[in-house]
Amino acid sequence: MTAPLTELKIRLIALLLRMTLFLLLMLVTVESSRSEVYTNHWAVRVSGGPQRADRVAAKYGYINFGQIGSLEDHYHFHHSRVVRRAAFSLKGPHSFIHMDPEVDWAQQQVVKPRVKRFAQSDPSFIPFNDPKWSNMWYIHCSDNNSQCRSEMNIQAAWQRGYTGKNVVVTILDDGIEWSHPDLAQNYDHLASYDVNGNDHDPTPRYDFRNANVHGTRCAGEVAAAANNSHCIVGIAYNARIGGIRMLDGEVTDLVEAKSLGVRPDYIDIYSASWGPKDDGKTVDGPGQLTKQAFEQGIKKGRKGLGSIFVWASGNGGRQGDHCSCDGYTSSIYTISISSATENGNKPWYLEACSSILATTYSSGEFNERKIV
Ligand SMILES: *[C@@H]1O[C@H](CO)[C@@H](O)[C@H](O)[C@H]1NC(C)=O
Ligand SMILES: *[C@@H]1O[C@H](CO)[C@@H](O)[C@H](O)[C@H]1NC(C)=O
Repeated sequence: MTAPLTELKIRLIALLLRMTLFLLLMLVTVESSRSEVYTNHWAVRVSGGPQRADRVAAKYGYINFGQIGSLEDHYHFHHSRVVRRAAFSLKGPHSFIHMDPEVDWAQQQVVKPRVKRFAQSDPSFIPFNDPKWSNMWYIHCSDNNSQCRSEMNIQAAWQRGYTGKNVVVTILDDGIEWSHPDLAQNYDHLASYDVNGNDHDPTPRYDFRNANVHGTRCAGEVAAAANNSHCIVGIAYNARIGGIRMLDGEVTDLVEAKSLGVRPDYIDIYSASWGPKDDGKTVDGPGQLTKQAFEQGIKKGRKGLGSIFVWASGNGGRQGDHCSCDGYTSSIYTISISSATENGNKPWYLEACSSILATTYSSGEFNERKIV
């Protein structure tokens, strides 16, 4: 009678074992279906000080890496005999830490997918064929030829489609060389006017001193065509660009007001890099007509969205000038832009004041690179 009973016992034990195995497999399957990655690091809360934590760690074969940052009683434990990355939480003698009465709480660390929210110079970015592209250090820092502090996330903006497409910009200055091979493609005669000459051609006046190159330079920085084998790449290389020639002559309130009011429903952005004397003793601003032009622009321009007036805040830094004394940059209707040098310093011409809304790179000391 005893023999069959023993056999029955063995069968029962075998059945139990199989059931246990089955349950274990189920557990493993359930855990791994979450597709998590378990590390061999634990966060453990033990009160009573680091020595106590060390003791608890040693008891189960962990190494105590110390307090977690500023979290009191929280320790970072590491177990070198647990798989570094596992699809499921493997149990073993180390697991008993979770049941230890000295442990308030313990958690095996799981890898959390985290994505950087900014795209720094995408290595897949195909460089432009414009010959000066490689010198445009303020747009691509990570190339081996240019070490700089920030590339201002310009390429990331481009990748998201912000290239100036469908935006019309005009430069209020000494004219624009619209036939320039790097500007011709984006030039827009409807965003242009010659206030000085009272006609529709804003071509600058050429003289032996080459005095009227400023407007063309500004236009290039904004909207020079990209990948056309010429010169540079504009920051908004798909924008349409015009020029309003108004600085090459006597500037009056009327001239300024006229210039700020050219086709307000057509032009989105008016960019100006001029103002009253930066000698540190002049306090001046827009006259009666220009004040009205600003107000009209922001109320009615862009078909009611408001014209955007962008203003350079310089250039009287050396003279101790202050852009609050300049009624154009400090106007609530303008967006004032300041500058930083390649090394992240204030350039000598910088004027500081509370109306500055943004800063971009520009030239600095003689040993610092300039804007192309
Ligand atoms: C620039 O143009 C070349 C052809 O001349 C082309 O192979 C390249 O992909 C273009 N680069 C970009 C960034 O579009
Ligand atoms: C990177 O450095 C090498 C060696 O100094 C140089 O030949 C190459 O032109 C550089 N690349 C760029 C994109 O400037």
